[in-house]
Amino acid sequence: MVANAKANQLFRLTSGFVHTQILSACVQLGLFEALDGKALTTVQMATRCNMAPDAMRRLLDQAKRLDLVISAGPDLWMLSDAGTVLATDRGLREMIKHHNMLYRDLTDAAAFWRGDLRDTELRRYWAYVRGSNPAEIDNELVAPYSALMRESQAMLADCILAAHDFGQYRSVLDVGGGEGAFLGALGERHPQLRLALFDLPAVTDLALRHLRERGILERCTLSPGDFTSDPLPGDHDCVTLVRILCDHDDDRVIKILTNLHRHLSPGTRLVVAEAMAGDSEGANLAAIYFGTYFAAMGSGRCRSSVEISALLARCGFRNAKAVTTGNPLLATIVIAQR
Ligand SMILES: C[S@@+](CC[C@H](N)C(=O)[O-])C[C@H]1O[C@@H](n2cnc3c(N)ncnc32)[C@H](O)[C@@H]1O
Repeated sequence: MVANAKANQLFRLTSGFVHTQILSACVQLGLFEALDGKALTTVQMATRCNMAPDAMRRLLDQAKRLDLVISAGPDLWMLSDAGTVLATDRGLREMIKHHNMLYRDLTDAAAFWRGDLRDTELRRYWAYVRGSNPAEIDNELVAPYSALMRESQAMLADCILAAHDFGQYRSVLDVGGGEGAFLGALGERHPQLRLALFDLPAVTDLALRHLRERGILERCTLSPGDFTSDPLPGDHDCVTLVRILCDHDDDRVIKILTNLHRHLSPGTRLVVAEAMAGDSEGANLAAIYFGTYFAAMGSGRCRSSVEISALLARCGFRNAKAVTTGNPLLATIVIAQR
C-alpha cells in the first residue's frame, strides 16, 4: 500500500508536464467556455473547439482523467468543479495561457537551473525587471503584463479582502497597483474609502481608463512614478503592496521599502500581500511554483513571512505580523507600521 502510494506519487511527479499540457490544450481550445453551464456531446464540442471528433474525444477522455470534465451520459460531457472554476475565472485561463512562455524558458532544464539562461521570455515580458529606467518604459511594453495582472486579480482580491478589514481605514494607497483592479475590488467592498494608486507612468495611463470604466475614478488619485526613488503621497492611513516585493531581489526591496518609509507618515499601516513560502501545503506549492517563475524572470523570489518581516524591520517598519489567508497558494499577508 505505502509502496504503491509512493510509486504513484513519483509517477505523478514524472508525468506532471503531461497534465499541464492537457490543461493548456483545453484552455487554448476554449473547452471550458464551451461547456460553461451546459452539457454537450463530443460532436458538438468538436464543432465548438474546431477539431475532428476523434481528436476531441481523446482530449475529453484525458480531461476527464484529470477531473476537469465529467461524463453526464453516453458521449455527453459536463464540467467538474475544477472545470467550472476554469470556465468562470478568465484570469486563471490567462495565467495558464501565459505559461507557454515559462514552458519554453524551462526547455533546457539543466541550463535553466544552472543559471545559464540570461535572456528568458519572462524576463522580456516583465519589462521593469530588466534594469533600465522603469519610469521610461513605454505603453506597449507594460500593456500585456498589466492586462494579465488586471484579469488575475479577482480571486486574489477576494482572498486579501476576506483576511484583512480595510473598513478600518479612511484612505488606501496601492503602490504598484497596476491598472487598479485591486483598488476597484476594495472600493466596491468599502464605498467610504478614499483610493489612490501609484505605478509607472505608462501603467497609470492604463489605470485611468480601467478606473473610469469601473466608475470609481472620481474617488481615486493617480500618481505616476518610480517607487524606488520618487516621492509617494504620504497622507493615507493604509498603504498596500500586492504582488510587489516578490518581483525583486533583496537590494531592490530595500530600496522600495526605504523610499516608502521616507515618504509615509508615522503610524501608516503597510499591508504586504503576495504568495509566501511556508509549511502549509498551499504555501509549499506556491514556493515551488513562484520560486521557478521568479528564477525565469531573473529577479525576485518567494519569501516567507519571516523574511518579509525582517526586510520591513531593516527598513524601519515596526510590529510586523503575519496573517494567513483562506488561500496561501495566492497570498499570505504581512502587516506592519511606519
Ligand atoms: C506584478 S505587478 C502587480 C500589480 C498589482 N499590484 C497586482 O497585484 O495586480 C507589479 C507592478 O509593479 C509596478 N512596478 C514595477 N516597477 C515599478 C517601479 N519602479 N515603480 C512603480 N511601479 C513599478 C508594475 O508596473 C506593475 O504594475
